[in-house]
Amino acid sequence: NVYWYGNRYVSQEEVLISPEDRGYYFGDGAYEVFRFYSGRLYETDAHLKRLWHTAAGLRLTLPFTEAELTSRLEELVRRSGAADGNVYLQITRGAAPRAHPFPKGAEPVVMAYASSVDRPLAAMETGIRAVAVEDIRWLRCDYKTLNLLPNVMAKQEALDRGADEAVLHRDGTVTECSASNLMIVKDGTVRTHPANRFILHGVTRAVVLRLARAAEIPVLEQPFTLDELASADEIFITGTTVEVTPVVALNGQAVGSGKPGPVTRRLQQQFAATLP
Ligand code: PDD
Repeated sequence: NVYWYGNRYVSQEEVLISPEDRGYYFGDGAYEVFRFYSGRLYETDAHLKRLWHTAAGLRLTLPFTEAELTSRLEELVRRSGAADGNVYLQITRGAAPRAHPFPKGAEPVVMAYASSVDRPLAAMETGIRAVAVEDIRWLRCDYKTLNLLPNVMAKQEALDRGADEAVLHRDGTVTECSASNLMIVKDGTVRTHPANRFILHGVTRAVVLRLARAAEIPVLEQPFTLDELASADEIFITGTTVEVTPVVALNGQAVGSGKPGPVTRRLQQQFAATLP
């Protein structure tokens, strides 16, 4: 992979991150995962908007403008030579001796790379298994920060329990998944947790809700419980890396018919039609 680091395009060996980087010490930084299809970045503006939201929340001054960042990302995609893939971008508060206060005079450290990643067509076709896991994250899940330990723990617990993804819940209220948003379909209505501080405001979530509304599928952005999740007709997850993926088993029980449902299929088709 080609990296963007220190305002140059370099190989991985030339990315020299200090052991005193605050990302390493504190997870003190922001990140984004962008998707590109046929060499073209997808929903760039929505990702940029979220990155600036995260940076403002972390009081992190981004060392580039939106236009500068976009051209860097486009250049990374070009240099990767890949058609379909992801761009990973992270910005930390910089390197300084370990102390909690924001360091004076430290410069943000930026690192990004593009890699080739195929669309998850098999999972999208057959669906995945999910299990419920307690959401033990902090109260600003709308910031895409490097502090992903609760997400990592939840994902691993899901895998250890023979599933593919963890559905997170706070006291029985479903929020989202470890690395994706979650939607249910009940009696023809698509329902998902509102975009507040308890979830990441997924770029794919927004695309799918827009598509559902355009198709006159009723949409409800309202919290729901684990019981409502268990009695849903359909469940699916959304995300940059998973697109629209059906959940066909929950806690070892079949969801609906145990096969991807009709509303999920329709939204998958409509999502695919938005890709370049
Ligand atoms: N994760 N919720 C969480 C907790 C996420 O980490 C992600 C994305 C999403 C989906 O958001 P979007 O549609 O904007 O990708 C929801 C990225 C891909 C990751 O951490 O790898």
